[in-house]
Amino acid sequence: MKFFAINGSPRKTCSTAKLLDKSLEGIQSVLPEAEVERIDLYDIPFNGCKSCFACKRINGRHYGRCVYKDDFKPILNEITQADGVILGSPVYFGDLTGNMRCFLERFMFPFLAYSSHETVEHKRMPLACIYTMNVSREASIEMGYNDLFDKYESILEGIFTKPEHLYVHETYQFKDYSRYVSDIFDEKERKHILKTRFPKDLKSAFEIGKNIALKSQK
Ligand SMILES: Cc1cc2nc3c(=O)[nH]c(=O)nc-3n(C[C@H](O)[C@H](O)[C@H](O)COP(=O)(O)O)c2cc1C
Repeated sequence: MKFFAINGSPRKTCSTAKLLDKSLEGIQSVLPEAEVERIDLYDIPFNGCKSCFACKRINGRHYGRCVYKDDFKPILNEITQADGVILGSPVYFGDLTGNMRCFLERFMFPFLAYSSHETVEHKRMPLACIYTMNVSREASIEMGYNDLFDKYESILEGIFTKPEHLYVHETYQFKDYSRYVSDIFDEKERKHILKTRFPKDLKSAFEIGKNIALKSQK
């Protein structure tokens, strides 16, 4: 069995990556034999959907598949065959990161039927979404982030399965706040959150991984 964590952060050792790694540990705690892999989207030169519609051509050779030939194509093919996928993205300007959006376009669009009936057979693997952000839980609701996350998840649900989710707020952004102009943040408070709340977030990510593994067995 194969499971993927998709890292939509350009950073490979920070909050999003750590949470994703924990979720993969959660999978392996249930399925020790399972193969798990984190894909760092910012390591791969790729673009989003180029709107060629080859995936929608009547009697087309590539119907229901992304025809876009690039370094990402073989990786995408593997991900679409996975037994479970966990997506992780920081919030950038009130949305997912650019590369996560590019990924979702390529991951979802070939399977989105432009028809009132199902036209593409594909794997409906269990999914989870982990979002990290600077703002507090209250601010994220006020700013409509949850509505945005719901929107992405409802598209994913329509194509694959209903994702589990984890919202991680007030993340620790810099290793050393004193080196950056960042007086709108209270470093002490962030450090406290890092020590007290982030370990709980990691635990939740681990549980999400366990759930994905269990769902993959059904
Ligand atoms: C370009 C950029 C834009 C950002 N925009 C937002 C934002 O709109 N809302 C927010 O809450 N955090 C925002 N952040 C903060 C990140 O979402 C947050 O620090 C996140 O946890 C980073 O994840 P990472 O440490 O795994 O890279 C932004 C960060 C960057 C670099």
